[in-house]
Amino acid sequence: MRIIKLALAMALVAGLAACQKTTAGAGNVDGARIAAADTNGEWVSYGKGYSEQRFSPLDKVNATNVGQLGLAWYAQFDTDRGQEATPLEVDGVLYTTTAWSKVFAFDAVTGKLLWSYDPKVDGKKGFDACCDVVNRGVAVWKGKVYVGTMDARLVALDAKDGHVVWQTQVADAAKPYTITQAPRVVKDKVLIGESGAEYGGRGYLSAYDAASGKLVWRFYTVPNPNGADGAVSDKVLKDKALATWPEGSWKMVGGGGTVWDAIAYDPALDLIYFGTDNGTPWNQQVRSGGKGDNLFISSIIAVKADTGEYVWHYQVNPGESWDYSAVQPFILADLTIAGKPTKVLMQAPKNGFFYVLDRTNGKLLSAKAFVPVTWASSIDIATGRPVENPSARYKSDIDLQMPAPLGAHNWHPMSFSPKTGLVYIPAQSMPFAYQADPKFIYKPGGWNLGVSMLANAGPMTPEQTKALAANIKGWLIAWDPVNQKPVWTVNRPYFWNAGVLSTGGNLVFQGAAEGQFYAYDAANGKQLWAYATGNGVIAAPMTYEIKGEQYVALMVGSGGGGQVSAPSLLPARPRLPGRLLVFKLGGAAKAPPFKIVEPPPLNLTGVKTTGDKTHGYVVFNDNCQVCHGANATGSWLPDLKRSILITTPDDFNSVVIQGVRAHNGMVSFSKFLKPQDVEDVRAFLISQAKGEPLPGAAVAAKAASGAK
Ligand code: HEC
Repeated sequence: MRIIKLALAMALVAGLAACQKTTAGAGNVDGARIAAADTNGEWVSYGKGYSEQRFSPLDKVNATNVGQLGLAWYAQFDTDRGQEATPLEVDGVLYTTTAWSKVFAFDAVTGKLLWSYDPKVDGKKGFDACCDVVNRGVAVWKGKVYVGTMDARLVALDAKDGHVVWQTQVADAAKPYTITQAPRVVKDKVLIGESGAEYGGRGYLSAYDAASGKLVWRFYTVPNPNGADGAVSDKVLKDKALATWPEGSWKMVGGGGTVWDAIAYDPALDLIYFGTDNGTPWNQQVRSGGKGDNLFISSIIAVKADTGEYVWHYQVNPGESWDYSAVQPFILADLTIAGKPTKVLMQAPKNGFFYVLDRTNGKLLSAKAFVPVTWASSIDIATGRPVENPSARYKSDIDLQMPAPLGAHNWHPMSFSPKTGLVYIPAQSMPFAYQADPKFIYKPGGWNLGVSMLANAGPMTPEQTKALAANIKGWLIAWDPVNQKPVWTVNRPYFWNAGVLSTGGNLVFQGAAEGQFYAYDAANGKQLWAYATGNGVIAAPMTYEIKGEQYVALMVGSGGGGQVSAPSLLPARPRLPGRLLVFKLGGAAKAPPFKIVEPPPLNLTGVKTTGDKTHGYVVFNDNCQVCHGANATGSWLPDLKRSILITTPDDFNSVVIQGVRAHNGMVSFSKFLKPQDVEDVRAFLISQAKGEPLPGAAVAAKAASGAK
């Protein structure tokens, strides 16, 4: 059993002892090695190699023997929030990250902890994380390990022992910027973006010198309302972007377009590709008066690796208005299209269409819906623009659209097997009731959407609930990107399933929301193996080979945007400590079951409140539902209907007003709410704890009447 305590000193001592033999010359990765990992068995960058295909040719574990796959070793971490990282394996060392941006290095064969690093992020930063305090992994380059932190730092660690070599502030930590993305390294430059579009962030991609941490170039994705930045993006923002932001509140809120996931690199073309987030606020009517394309939000951008100079862009959603970001992972591949070998970039962004672009020039080659989509009928190949359905640009009436802001596909990595020619997509579907927020005012530091959150929280008739439930789905889709059609599909019981790995052993691996880790036949989707992790899985697996033995590694721990904001649609479970599971053929290790402690039933006899539960219902759904679930249906962060703290105003206020749990990410709401608002929320929670019907029927009936 391996419980990692943050006894850093002890870990360091153990690490120093271990590094004598196992990690001399640690972290020895350069560009040639990352490029070679596109086709060999190594996994030395977030997406394996620069093309981010996440296909490993390793085939010792294969469709014939995968039934013998068993646990080789495991590690348990000290965080119980979402685990999204893909580990990297470099010369026998497995590097991974956990929630709260902590870094761990293990002996990849034995699981012995070599070192760990805790950036000691202030728990208050948890409030700035729209989608949980997650981290998707490290980059390794020439003896250093790089991590982006929740408080928007980029930290370079020594790969031998994890000590800090340099660190730099990528974005102002006093503002609601965070980093969850795995850095990538290209030509001695560490590439890193940031998150925060919901809160009023302005996006950019930065390139830092890998040795010194000095900023080399920065590309801003939306214009600076105050003029130029003195950055490489100045010219293209002036020439192409500024005129696409005619009016509206974007000058106040930053515009969005943050760069929080996809980055890929083509060494032959020497181009870096990155994706940008939705606009801020979501509602384009509020953001820019409903006019203009709002470049370069919701776009794929290609820049020169040395200078960051603009080369081309493709905007996935012009004038984006639904939280349809284009940051979802890219895959670069060479496909034969219309008989011609073609260098493509593929993306399955949130909006539900699968895009194939010519990556030499950004031209759209094809786009087809891979899930049910209501906001557009098709993508026009000639113009590259979506053919939007007239009702999609919601106004005061509710418009039910698919996909939802959580996307048809989110950050969960997809995988492309050159062997089968298929892209394996972790796809999902969920409707969302879009309705303009008539009373939008900019809330510095808070969520700024211009969309009514109440519309998605109201009580519904049984028919409406049934219709909604019927459209909440998850799938693993094997997609033929040349003919733009599914070849096989696995139906999932829940949405918000995990990232994917495909291998030369004719296997596709994916974890799922209910906690199983599966292997399928890559050609036909037949299930060949399953392992119960005991916790939800969202991260992508990876694989490596040492001394002729193949391993499959997976980070386990539910969390992320889906778990935080829509917990009632996922299996009810408390937060459980994250784990790293490593499998091999004949592995016989056992991970103990998680201990699940149920809160005792609440005794509400004699509990009194002066609050107005109807107003509390509105305040709750405006301020709390993004973490505690619509109408307090969440069981995860935690279930407020079962919290003893709601039984007295003092206890409740100590958390919600005084902020005594700020160190765990539950900050004080005193700057957003008046004491009476908080008491009203408590009244609402008490009513829900008693199992009363939702108050605010009138507010909600109006909302529900708009639902088609
Ligand atoms: C950014 C996410 C986020 C938002 C928004 C949020 N919370 Fe929390 N809340 C948390 C987290 C994380 C915890 C768990 C803290 C801990 O483990 O100590 C928590 C815990 C709590 C608790 C303690 C419950 C218990 O039994 O321990 C209360 C009460 C609470 N929240 C009320 C609220 C209210 C009321 C709102 C809206 C006004 C709100 N929260 C909004 C993240 C959030």
